[in-house]
Amino acid sequence: MSKSAELKARKSAAVAAGVSARGIYVAKAENSELWDVDGRRYIDFAAGIAVLNTGHRHPLVMEAVAAQAQQFAHTCFHVSPYESYVRLAERLNALAPGDFAKKTLFLNSGAEAIENAIKIARYYTKRSAVIAFSGGFHGRTLMTMALTGKVMPYKRGFGPFPAEIYHAEFPQPYRGVTTEQALADLDRLFHGDVDPKSVAAILIEPVQGEGGFNVAPADFLRALRRLCDEHGIVLIADEVQGGIARTGKMFSIEHSGVVPDLITTAKGLGGGFPLSGVTGRAAIMDAAHSGGLGGTYGGNPISIAAAHAVLDVIESEGLCARAATVGEKMRSRLLALARELPCIGDVRGLGAMVAFELVKDPKTREPDAELTASVLAHAERRGLILLSCGTSANVVRLLAPLTIPDAVLAEGLNILAASLKDAAGVESERAVA
Ligand SMILES: Cc1ncc(COP(=O)(O)O)c(C=O)c1O
Repeated sequence: MSKSAELKARKSAAVAAGVSARGIYVAKAENSELWDVDGRRYIDFAAGIAVLNTGHRHPLVMEAVAAQAQQFAHTCFHVSPYESYVRLAERLNALAPGDFAKKTLFLNSGAEAIENAIKIARYYTKRSAVIAFSGGFHGRTLMTMALTGKVMPYKRGFGPFPAEIYHAEFPQPYRGVTTEQALADLDRLFHGDVDPKSVAAILIEPVQGEGGFNVAPADFLRALRRLCDEHGIVLIADEVQGGIARTGKMFSIEHSGVVPDLITTAKGLGGGFPLSGVTGRAAIMDAAHSGGLGGTYGGNPISIAAAHAVLDVIESEGLCARAATVGEKMRSRLLALARELPCIGDVRGLGAMVAFELVKDPKTREPDAELTASVLAHAERRGLILLSCGTSANVVRLLAPLTIPDAVLAEGLNILAASLKDAAGVESERAVA
């Protein structure tokens, strides 16, 4: 029995079944590659689900973490605060879009950042309703599950959910939902379900992650901004997956020119260490009373040290520009493959957040979840880690570290092409049989 198989059996016996895990048990990782406990090498196009924008174990991140560990590892910011937390808040306040005073709060996970953004928006507006979007994903806590617009695997069996949450259509041109239709749906919501004057926040991923890398059109985001201004609603951009240089700008919403009131960050911010944040208008961020926000570990010193190094690396290695280059290489390869393989129905994304949608028939656009799972399995056998996404589980997303060397990226894309052809071939043979 291989070590991986042995660990898989131990995992089944010891870990809660609801915690899914792939079969690759990691022994070590370096930049865009990892090796499993049986010595197999993999190219990592998952990056710990969009966390390792600066790659596995970036030397400067590791150095910063080691240096911080020599000083202190935990005090709780509420009890014995430290300068690095304040300085990271200053840096994010300066980086976030908007020519106004901003403030920041640090937490541990993406879900916790969303929870806090909603708490803050409710406190500030003295309203309770929140609008989120179909296909959106915001986390696995009770509030963020409720905000999520995808039932499986996130919501089934876990209700009841908190009240006063409404979902509107996310524009999705490939699936026939235009900006106009999505705005009409919001209008329907405002007339049929919830008074806009009761709405505390509109929460949106400028590029949906789990939902399938759907990019919110700039005119849609501009319309949301206008609606929020008109009705006194707080606009929250969930940048947990799309932020921190992934799309070619520090925050994905910057591509649209729209300035949100609050931004949530996590994943890439900590470079592999748990850290999240809410950054936004000082007047809104300051609404809650002292002691109303925070937590034991929020902004722990090790993660904060890692985040400073991450921001330094993004600047010194020009990772926003690199994201655009990596994304372009992925996109052009996928578009070439789409000309050969009719199962690739759509290629989309922003910067190095690139995905393709697999369909049974390019005309009907019927989602092909089976083929998607097969592509992932073929890629894994050939040494490439891929992730799927999309409400119909038929989208493959590419999230390589932005620091991936050109040669490794090319190798990964070659494996992807071969896996797609293998999987599509298997599918067509079976169809013939
Ligand atoms: C857009 C978005 N928001 C929130 C979350 C939740 O983050 P976490 O898993 O750190 O709680 C995720 C996680 O994938 C995400 O992609």
